Amino acid sequence: MKQALTGSRALCTVSAALDAPQRVVCDGRAVVVWMVEDDRPAVIDDRCPHGNARLSDGYVLYGRIVCPLHMWTFGADGRAQAPGGRMEAAGPMPRSYESWISGDEVWARVDG
Ligand code: FES
Repeated sequence: MKQALTGSRALCTVSAALDAPQRVVCDGRAVVVWMVEDDRPAVIDDRCPHGNARLSDGYVLYGRIVCPLHMWTFGADGRAQAPGGRMEAAGPMPRSYESWISGDEVWARVDG
């Protein structure tokens, strides 16, 4: 049962993640939780590598999270796409974390 994996924890409810991207801080690491599909969560670092915006202030479009500042989008794997294809990142791409649903909560393994 994944719920019992070392280092895993509940991040938020599925309904909250369906409503809007959720910012959760795990041991000092901020992550954003959203739903790619009704039954598929995604968890990546809550920081845009372009200009350090909080991705949790963005929105979800076609399963990808959209940065609120310049509309870069990120998939569940943390990979970015930039409008027009120009990628000039100021920082590292966000890490993605294994996530799953257990009961009515989104769980993930967020390691340091
Ligand atoms: S800060 Fe996120 S796209 Fe520019």
